[in-house]
Amino acid sequence: MSIKNTTRDYGTIAKWLHWLTAVLFLGAYSTVYFRQWFTEEKTPENWTALQLHLSIGVTLAVIVALRIIWRVMNKKPNMEPGTKIEHLTAHVGHYALYAVMLLMPITGYLGTSVNTEFFFIFDIEKFDNTALYTYLITDGIGITFQEFEKPIDFIHKNILGAWLVWILILGHIFAALYHHFVKKDRTLEKMTKSK
Ligand code: HEM
Ligand code: HEM
Repeated sequence: MSIKNTTRDYGTIAKWLHWLTAVLFLGAYSTVYFRQWFTEEKTPENWTALQLHLSIGVTLAVIVALRIIWRVMNKKPNMEPGTKIEHLTAHVGHYALYAVMLLMPITGYLGTSVNTEFFFIFDIEKFDNTALYTYLITDGIGITFQEFEKPIDFIHKNILGAWLVWILILGHIFAALYHHFVKKDRTLEKMTKSK
């Protein structure tokens, strides 16, 4: 099995980065929904679930950065035969997924009002406490943290988190299954098969 992508298949590294991303998204969603649905405010479980959400989100930011670097250094496997519209939709869908993979951790970090206790190993200072925040937001634009975080939280939670990310991921999974079971082509195998 090749480490790098070939014109026929994704390589080992691209596959690992892809599936790791999928697991981290699942983790980010499960922790935040667990916190909301199954824990009471101000309990240790509530705090642990939030901190796991933040830690998984920060890990995702690192993985996505590596994934994008690897992606530009590699060729992309050829697409399976399809119409121009199908290929265009796939391209747009993939770029949109890259965009939300970056925007979710960025908006999450900018808008959080607590430090990230990274898997309870070390602390990552919240943006609001950094010199960059003071320079850009307090001194630069001259607004309070509440005014700053409101639109950012709205994008993180309501626009992207509640809707767009779900639509993109579910559409993406549906497309993969459609290729595999209906068109019966190699699209899914390129990302799964170890040969
Ligand atoms: C894959 C990455 C991420 C995904 C998919 C994600 C998803 C979400 C969703 C869906 C919510 C809203 C829950 C709701 O109110 O309905 C949320 C809330 C939140 N997220 Fe993220 N998030 C990610 C990364 C991050 C990161 C990196 C941080 C900060 C370092 C962060 C901080 C927060 C905070 C503070 C909340 C509010 C928690 C609450 O009010 O219960 N998120 N996130
Ligand atoms: C069960 C879940 C998933 C399945 C079955 C799946 C399947 C696939 C398949 C088959 C491909 C190759 C498509 C092609 O070459 O045309 C692919 C590529 C891709 N997937 Fe997923 N995926 C899943 C979850 C995710 C998630 C959660 C994300 C991100 C949020 C994601 C982001 C991407 C991106 C950006 C590509 C394009 C890679 C590239 O060529 O640069 N996938 N996925």
